[in-house]
Amino acid sequence: MAGSPVSTHSPGDGDGKGPETNDEQKAQMEQAYQQMRRKMRMTKLNDDVGHKFMVLSGKGGVGKSTVATGLALSLARMGQKVGLLDIDITGPNLPKMLGIEGTQLHVEEGQIHPAIGPHGVKVISMAFLIEDPDKPVIWRGPIKLGAIQQFIGDVAWGDLDYLIIDFPPGTSDEPLTVTQSLPTMDGVVIVTTPQEVALLDSRKSINFAKTINLPVLGVVENMRGYTLQGSATNPDGSAITNATIEIGGPSGQKIEAKTDSDGNWNVMLDLFKRGGGESAAEEMDVPFLGSLPFDPGIVRGGDDGVHRIVAEPDGPTAEAFQSIVTRLIENLESPDEDGVTII
Ligand SMILES: Nc1ncnc2c1ncn2[C@@H]1O[C@H](COP(=O)(O)OP(=O)(O)O)[C@@H](O)[C@H]1O
Ligand SMILES: [Mg+2]
Repeated sequence: MAGSPVSTHSPGDGDGKGPETNDEQKAQMEQAYQQMRRKMRMTKLNDDVGHKFMVLSGKGGVGKSTVATGLALSLARMGQKVGLLDIDITGPNLPKMLGIEGTQLHVEEGQIHPAIGPHGVKVISMAFLIEDPDKPVIWRGPIKLGAIQQFIGDVAWGDLDYLIIDFPPGTSDEPLTVTQSLPTMDGVVIVTTPQEVALLDSRKSINFAKTINLPVLGVVENMRGYTLQGSATNPDGSAITNATIEIGGPSGQKIEAKTDSDGNWNVMLDLFKRGGGESAAEEMDVPFLGSLPFDPGIVRGGDDGVHRIVAEPDGPTAEAFQSIVTRLIENLESPDEDGVTII
């Protein structure tokens, strides 16, 4: 066709290559369009989402996914619109933790619609796309990075106040790809446990964030201590109120506890080193967001899909998350205060 900007051959023009060339060109064009659409959506997501942050740790098993889901649920309970992106494509576990495993993702007009978790949190995870969760998936570098871009650009995230991104442990490729796709990233939240090795690894994560010019929004210290709870009563069954009592701790250790006006008490037993996360944050000149207790309910919740915050919205873990979120919001709203360093 005269004047056509793309077609150099028309079907049956005698060179015997016409139809194939056309198909090839069509496929190339479709691919280019798709890339363009993805890029446009990424730009829109980049501009539209109120705040975006990544949850990182140097070490696996310190509670990154627990913290990412907890922050998402705490923000959503406050009425915020939250998206949660599970970048752990080899071992995705956020859907299980949120009780939405096995959800069939809905695709419309080339866009993937996220699964909806508790409190309306929108979730995208490779777990929804893997047929057999017990079969390991091996991703080569470029394919993995392409999948991450799709997760960002081909998803109908809709209107979001927060986008939280959870990562596999100790990697640098994935966070880099994500920040390239979403350059207005607010920063990173670093999760650590109070043992020396985890703290050392969290220092590496802080340095990593600094080298890619991302502010550290704060450090969360997970599994700080074990909370013992109980109620104290007199032999006649009446409550021992507003008193200091002594209870027997591990290895016969005596622990003092204070009872409230109903006779209830709770004490926190340190599991690892006391205040390690806090001093590591101070030493690295980044904000400390708070600690989470060791809570067996978190493990149970992860296994049976009822998140601790959903099961016990007023419990100590939900409360700890709430105070972490409050500090995080403060740091997000005023990133120059609180010693956030951008180098
Ligand atoms: N504060 C906590 N108390 C008790 N168990 C926890 C706590 N935080 C995490 N866990 C458990 O530790 C394991 C690892 O947590 P996870 O969030 O998957 O870590 P990561 O994402 O860093 O690998 C999970 O079984 C989880 O239920
Ligand atoms: Mg994880």
